[in-house]
This record gives sequence, C-alpha cells and structure tokens, in this order.
Amino acid sequence: MDRGQTMTTLFTSRSSFQTWRDSLSEHRTVGFVPTMGALHAGHISLIEQAKAKCDVVVVSIYVNALQFNSDTDFTRYPRTEETDFQLCAHANVDAVFAPVKSDLFPEEVVKLVTPSSNALGYEGADRPGHFAGVATVVDRLFSVVKPRVAFFGLKDYQQVAVINDMASQLHPNIVIAPCKTMREADGLAMSSRNRFLTPSGRESAASLNIALKKAVSLWNDGKSQSQELIETVSKDVLRDSAIEVQYISVVRNGTMEQVQTVSENDVIVAAIIVDGVRLIDNMSFTNA
Ligand code: PAJ
Repeated sequence: MDRGQTMTTLFTSRSSFQTWRDSLSEHRTVGFVPTMGALHAGHISLIEQAKAKCDVVVVSIYVNALQFNSDTDFTRYPRTEETDFQLCAHANVDAVFAPVKSDLFPEEVVKLVTPSSNALGYEGADRPGHFAGVATVVDRLFSVVKPRVAFFGLKDYQQVAVINDMASQLHPNIVIAPCKTMREADGLAMSSRNRFLTPSGRESAASLNIALKKAVSLWNDGKSQSQELIETVSKDVLRDSAIEVQYISVVRNGTMEQVQTVSENDVIVAAIIVDGVRLIDNMSFTNA
C-alpha cells in the first residue's frame, strides 16, 4: 500500500457499519457522500471535496425505491456495485456503506418525512412523492452515518434546497456542502441516466446546457426579464423536435421561488425529456 493511501472497507449491514462508526474518535470530522451507485466523475468530485475537508469519508450506495415514480424506473436503474467499490477504493474512501432495505427501513409501513415547500414545484410536480422519498432516505442515512458535513451535487439543485430544509429541521448539526456540477466535454451534465440516450439523443441532450449558457449570456448583455430569456432560448436552442421541455424557469438562489427580474446569483432551472430520458440542469446568473 502506498504511503497515505486509505484502506476502503465495505459494510453491507447496518450493524457492522455502526460498530465501525462507534469506534471512531469524536474528534475526527466525518464527511458523507450519499449516492445511489452507478458512480461517475460527478460523484467522484463530491468524494474528492469530502476528502479535502474531512478526516474520514463515508460513501453510501443505496438505490432508494421510495424516490422512484415507477417500478420500471427503479428496476432499470443501473447497478454496478463492483465498479463502484473499486472507484471508491481508488478515491481513498474510508467506508462504503451499502445497506439493504431492512437496514434502513425495518418497519413494515414507512412513515415518510414531509419535505418543505421547496419540494412542491418543478421536479416535485413532475415526479409526485419523489422528494418525500429523498428526504426520508437521507434522514435515515444521516441518523446512521452521523456525519459532520454531507456533500450534495448542485446538478440536483432542487434536491439541495429540499435537503437543506430537512437538515436544518431534523439534523441541525450537519453542514450541507453543495458541490458544483461536473460536465461532459460538450457541457452535458454527467448523470447515470445519460447511458440510456441513443447517439442522436445524446447530441440533442447537449442543447440543454447550451440553452442555459445562452440565457446567462443574454442576461449579461442586459436582458433581465426571465420570461424573455426563457422564450428566446426555448425558440432558438430547444426547438429540436427530439426535445420535450418539461419546465424552464428562473428561481431565487437556494430556493424554488420564481423570479421575474433576474439578479446576480439567481438560477435558471430546466428539465427536458430526450429518448424517454428525463434530464435536468441549472445554471447561476453570474457576471461574465
Ligand atoms: P445520485 O443520483 O446517485 O447522486 C448522488 C450525488 O451525486 C447527488 O448529490 C448528486 O447531486 C450528485 N451528482 C450527480 N451528478 C452529478 C454531477 N454531474 N456533478 C456533480 N454532482 C453530481 O442524488 C441521489 O443519488 C439520491 O437522490 C440520494 C441523495 C443519494 C438519495 O437517495
């Protein structure tokens, strides 16, 4: 083993994980990266930030049925445990926690956490129950892992808003660290769903990021009305017949509150469907 390299331990049960967790000194800062596996460079960037800021890093891998809207989606979610573990080991993660359902939800009927009002629109409206499922599993994971800092990707901007609200209510001692979106060379946000795109769908999907960038650049050129920005990019960039726009909107940074006149740090959020694959992305209005 190289000097400075960490041995990564895989825990597949809550009890073995808890024994390890209880053995850690209270003085060590635990960083946590919750995932559903199928790890890519976006996940790895969260792990690297956790490694940089914390003494001990835990990655969880759990495909959470509660947050899927259909059994088909849940069943077809990619499961690549072996590779995921290798990637975590390579990134010097200390512990990979890969529980089974009964470890997190031993009860027969799960009482769902009610997410905040930030969960109501956008992803929440298009995917009913999704954020209740996310908030519920993250609450359980936080209770088991007991991190000091938890890392979430801003690619899932609304998820970060919902988790922030849940954590400040139920886990006020846990710091939520939002991390920037990792992208493919053409700007498409990395996602475990990208693998379901056909080659032509993959090309169309790149328009999503182009549209968001164009909105930010129009804003830099002095156009400040969100409706005008949205209409222009929808007409110019998202007119490809392979693209079905689910929503495109501008919200106040950190919330899902809709904005008419765009100011710095507001965020343009969008979801499209290409090849039956739902893709989301967002971008902050920052001065060029
Ligand atoms: P999952 O989709 O596996 O994502 C795990 C974490 O990786 C999330 O915080 C997500 O925002 C982040 N992530 C995904 N793609 C990214 C990218 N391109 N750049 C940066 N970060 C990225 O999100 C979930 O799982 C689940 O909802 C979970 C929070 C684990 C609860 O089940």
